[in-house]
Amino acid sequence: FAFNYVNNSIVRGITSKDSKQFHVNVLGCKNFTFDGFKVTAPENSANTDGIHIGRSTGVNVLNTDIGTGDDCVSLGDGSKQVLVQNVKCGPGHGISIGSLGKYKEEEPVDGITIKSCSIKGTQNGVRIKTWPSQPGTITVTNMRFEDITMDNVSNPVIIDQEYCPWNQCTKQYPSKIKISNVIIKNIKGTSATKEGIILACSSGVPCEGVEMSNVDLKFNGAPAIAVCSNVKPKITGKVPPCTAPSNKKQ
Ligand SMILES: *[C@@H]1O[C@H](CO)[C@@H](O)[C@H](O)[C@H]1NC(C)=O
Ligand SMILES: *[C@@H]1O[C@H](CO)[C@@H](O)[C@H](O)[C@H]1NC(C)=O
Ligand SMILES: *[C@@H]1O[C@H](CO)[C@@H](O)[C@H](O)[C@H]1NC(C)=O
Repeated sequence: FAFNYVNNSIVRGITSKDSKQFHVNVLGCKNFTFDGFKVTAPENSANTDGIHIGRSTGVNVLNTDIGTGDDCVSLGDGSKQVLVQNVKCGPGHGISIGSLGKYKEEEPVDGITIKSCSIKGTQNGVRIKTWPSQPGTITVTNMRFEDITMDNVSNPVIIDQEYCPWNQCTKQYPSKIKISNVIIKNIKGTSATKEGIILACSSGVPCEGVEMSNVDLKFNGAPAIAVCSNVKPKITGKVPPCTAPSNKKQ
């Protein structure tokens, strides 16, 4: 399904099954809602993102169930005022913002809320990924990850500003994408690795205005840890303290 330049519309009660590539691509839309949508594809099917959104304002993904081989929901550049609520994700790679920074012409990302979602058996839970050593300089601001339940997710919450799969880039220079005002609140459940929270921000433009409250993730029954670099999150409630990355990481 490609929804290009569509305004004031709703897609309701539809299932997309076993698409060859992305199941849904939303481009240039304004005030566009998915409600009671469903995506299903095998866990091992590459590039079968559930819903990809880019250059769109006011997109809602509500009451939707996505199991696929890539990101459940992915948000590209120019995504603004997006609400992902009451979404079940898994299997898949989680709910991702990015990747960003690879191209000079990208538009900023502003106002993304991921709320009341459950994520199960995925590689990532909620993720922001930006490329190092690449020309993009946009800002990513006003992100909210709230009331999310993780079930055996490998990276439940991850900001990865050294995203560089298959060595397609070098990590010689930091990412130039500035991430600010990120709220991570009421995250619970289980992590499949001991690092429940990874905030790997850019050494060139450190993250600002990151707040974490009530994060209760377990790995093998023990509290999962938080690993942070180039960010000083403001903490309230029960949250694992930030530790520095170990050298082997990335
Ligand atoms: C959709 O909304 C945008 C922004 O308000 C407007 O520029 C565009 O013409 C609208 N498109 C359609 C198909 O109505
Ligand atoms: C958004 O779209 C819905 C239809 O899906 C419409 O009822 C509503 O009036 C639109 N809102 C605005 C602000 O145009
Ligand atoms: C949790 O995830 C890991 C890695 O993805 C997998 O090997 C393991 O079987 C899963 N455990 C459960 C209880 O599902």
